[in-house]
Amino acid sequence: MCAKSTLHTHEITYESLLEGNKEWVAATLAEDPTFFDRLSAGQKPPVLWIGCSDSRVPANQITNTNPGDIFVHRNIANVVVHTDMNMLSVLDYAVNVLEVEHVIVCGHYGCGGVQAAMANSQFGIIDNWLRNIKDTYRLHNDELANIADEKTRFDRLVELNVIEGVFNLTKTSIVQNRWSNGKKLGIHGWVYSLQTGLITDLKVTSQSNDNISSVFRVHEKKES
Ligand code: CO
Repeated sequence: MCAKSTLHTHEITYESLLEGNKEWVAATLAEDPTFFDRLSAGQKPPVLWIGCSDSRVPANQITNTNPGDIFVHRNIANVVVHTDMNMLSVLDYAVNVLEVEHVIVCGHYGCGGVQAAMANSQFGIIDNWLRNIKDTYRLHNDELANIADEKTRFDRLVELNVIEGVFNLTKTSIVQNRWSNGKKLGIHGWVYSLQTGLITDLKVTSQSNDNISSVFRVHEKKES
């Protein structure tokens, strides 16, 4: 569906974005005259994507999917924390209204947010957001402290940030209630490589309440 034959050969300007939109509409209609008629009728994406805001990791393009295929939530360094009303709203809507069957947390190697969280510089408001990743670092300090090579340690923290994200999703009543109701829902952790364009499945998929430690388990809500 991508109409561009070359990438980044022209300057991006405010005007070029609007021009690009017209080109995309024309190319899309040429390929599929009913495309917008179909999509405007509604969405039923089977997947929720929680990824990094990084401009180089667009969910649809790197998975070769189209508009309508993936419900997307992105923030700096794909952090999943329970106090994030934005993430919780997206998750609740995706799981309970759209009824997605998969939630994918996708990080990426070379993530500037994760790198900043490993360092001690101040960057502004974002420091407070990235502190969540410092908590992940502290939680896995024993493993990380044993990795002498900084790049390898950085890569591992990118992975651990995704794994904690998957774990944090399973702690939510949203996910646990879905599972208690016998609905199919897989929570997955992936990492994308900017170097190769390839995605690695970290194989930390959760699909039931069985492996959630008791302190994080919520009892089924009684119907009133
Ligand atoms: Co990033």
